[in-house]
Amino acid sequence: MVALRPFKSADLDDLYEISLATGHAGRDATALYQDPRMIGHLYSAPYALLSPATSFVAEDETGVGGYIVGAVDTYAFDYRLGREWWPELRAAYPDPPGSPPTRWNADQRRCYLIHHPWRTPEAIVETYPSHLHVNLLPRMQGQGVGRSLLELWFGTVRPLGAAGVHVGVSAHNHRGVRFWKSCGFVPLENAPTGSTVWLGRHLDADR
Ligand SMILES: CC(C)(COP(=O)(O)OP(=O)(O)OC[C@H]1O[C@@H](n2cnc3c(N)ncnc32)[C@H](O)[C@@H]1OP(=O)(O)O)[C@@H](O)C(=O)NCCC(=O)NCCS
Repeated sequence: MVALRPFKSADLDDLYEISLATGHAGRDATALYQDPRMIGHLYSAPYALLSPATSFVAEDETGVGGYIVGAVDTYAFDYRLGREWWPELRAAYPDPPGSPPTRWNADQRRCYLIHHPWRTPEAIVETYPSHLHVNLLPRMQGQGVGRSLLELWFGTVRPLGAAGVHVGVSAHNHRGVRFWKSCGFVPLENAPTGSTVWLGRHLDADR
């Protein structure tokens, strides 16, 4: 039995663990990283801590096994990251030497992003201003939990003014891309091509 509930600060370590366990194109990234919190620093923890009202977890008898986090306003969230999240991490993690990224290991590539955060192209954010991340441990996958978390999130962000949402998925995460498509997301034609697939979905205000 899986229950969905709002994020609590005591869930933070679980979010870090789930981020790592799903951080290699949807699969376990543990073997790739020396620092097990590197992925969570970028893709789950800041959302849960800066925007707890739009953060939810999925929990079963074993514990928290999934989460959904996101930002209603991507530009405003990026601004808050700059003031409230990156400074402390930048002090803790050095900017890797040299220019990207031929000989860097996975930790160094993430460190680079801490110092030089990725900015989603304007053409995407203008049309789909919100974005989100959802990740489930294998034991929770394939039972409708991802779709249920998504519906909970949409129901939360619509009243906050969200009209369109985008996601960026590793091009190697074929299962993830199929999930988004079956949940009404369409690949974005104006998106840059590369290692990330961009998809978007409009949110009907009256649903
Ligand atoms: C991707 C993920 C969030 C999907 O959640 P889920 O609970 O496993 O998916 P659901 O059971 O809710 O399925 C929802 C829909 O997506 C479809 N779907 C899910 N996984 C699929 C797959 N591997 N292939 C095809 N369709 C898939 C389901 O068929 C279902 O469609 P339907 O309701 O029309 O039948 C989850 O599997 C996960 O966290 N994976 C690892 C991390 C990851 O890849 N995260 C996404 C990164 S962008």
